[in-house]
Amino acid sequence: MGKQLNVGVIGLGVMGQRMLARMAGHERLRAVRVWDASPAAVAEVQQRWPELRVAESAESLIQDSGLHSLYIATPPAAHMPLSNLAFDAGLSVFCEKPLTVDFDSARQTIARIASEKRRAAVNFSLASSAGLSALQRAFGAASRQPLGQLQSVELELAFAAWPRPWQAAAGAWLSQRGEGGMAREVLSHFIFALQRVLGSCSVTSSAVDYPDDGQSAETGLKAELNASGVPIRIWARVGGGLADYNAMRWQASAGELELNEWFSQARERQADGSWRDLGQGEAWRTAAHLDQLDQWMAMIEGRSHCLPGFAEALAAQETIEAILAGKSA
Ligand SMILES: NC(=O)c1ccc[n+]([C@@H]2O[C@H](COP(=O)([O-])OP(=O)(O)OC[C@H]3O[C@@H](n4cnc5c(N)ncnc54)[C@H](O)[C@@H]3O)[C@@H](O)[C@H]2O)c1
Repeated sequence: MGKQLNVGVIGLGVMGQRMLARMAGHERLRAVRVWDASPAAVAEVQQRWPELRVAESAESLIQDSGLHSLYIATPPAAHMPLSNLAFDAGLSVFCEKPLTVDFDSARQTIARIASEKRRAAVNFSLASSAGLSALQRAFGAASRQPLGQLQSVELELAFAAWPRPWQAAAGAWLSQRGEGGMAREVLSHFIFALQRVLGSCSVTSSAVDYPDDGQSAETGLKAELNASGVPIRIWARVGGGLADYNAMRWQASAGELELNEWFSQARERQADGSWRDLGQGEAWRTAAHLDQLDQWMAMIEGRSHCLPGFAEALAAQETIEAILAGKSA
């Protein structure tokens, strides 16, 4: 076993605490220092993990010379300022998605990462999933196209309520259109996967439903995208009596790949019309989470990994913002 890698965590809300729990089971990544702007979040974490040292500020945490990496789990607005403070201190950064809502600042940060050769990645959890590997095998740039030529992609997302019950304790930002909403929060994962396999997408048309209050996030959207001539249809809805689900169907000339439940269920239709299960269940999802931590560790150590860097995450975010901006066909 290699040496322990010390992590500082900023942002101790729903996702920060989930990651602390995941790291607790990892053999080398160790959260050692934490900080959050909210005293209530800090108190909650101190109660659950009394061994963690609480910093006095984000700056003092980042300047702790014993750290190897900073994990940022704040809402998007703080992602770029905190990343840059970490780079100033020579730390690698693992940042939550969505990357940002400030595109100029993200572009400057990406230029800095390239020129200073900084180590940085974004937590799109599908990056380590077996489902994404199946998509790459079937349709990626190096694919031998076992299912034939890709003809269309369909994505459906439904949420009984927004925020979802497990994120009900998150800040107000999550239900507001400035930083939150289902497109940035959930659709971004699938746009990342789509662009990882097919390259950049353009938005052909998009219609977004917003509540009349001028503040709350989107409640529905329909969009058509295009990637290298392949049409992509997206439909997403909050409410309307539907239980939460997500489903992605990749239809090709000699078969189809269908992924459900965050890529934790995948099946393939072959040329003779029969379906073959590629794998499914909680074990698949847990394996992806564990592998994500191993990939983060590889990033810290400068080894090759499959996590998206800031530029790839920004490309996903640009597509999301273009969808949210709306476009007539
Ligand atoms: N990768 C995933 O699967 C996944 C899942 C859920 C959330 N997320 C992402 O994680 C991030 C956090 O989401 P969440 O659900 O935990 O939100 P949350 O509102 O529960 O927690 C955010 C925390 O950040 C703190 N905070 C805000 N600004 C800060 C700052 N400048 N400095 C320090 N602390 C600050 C808040 O006090 C709060 O405790 C978001 O970017 C979200 O999109 C990712």
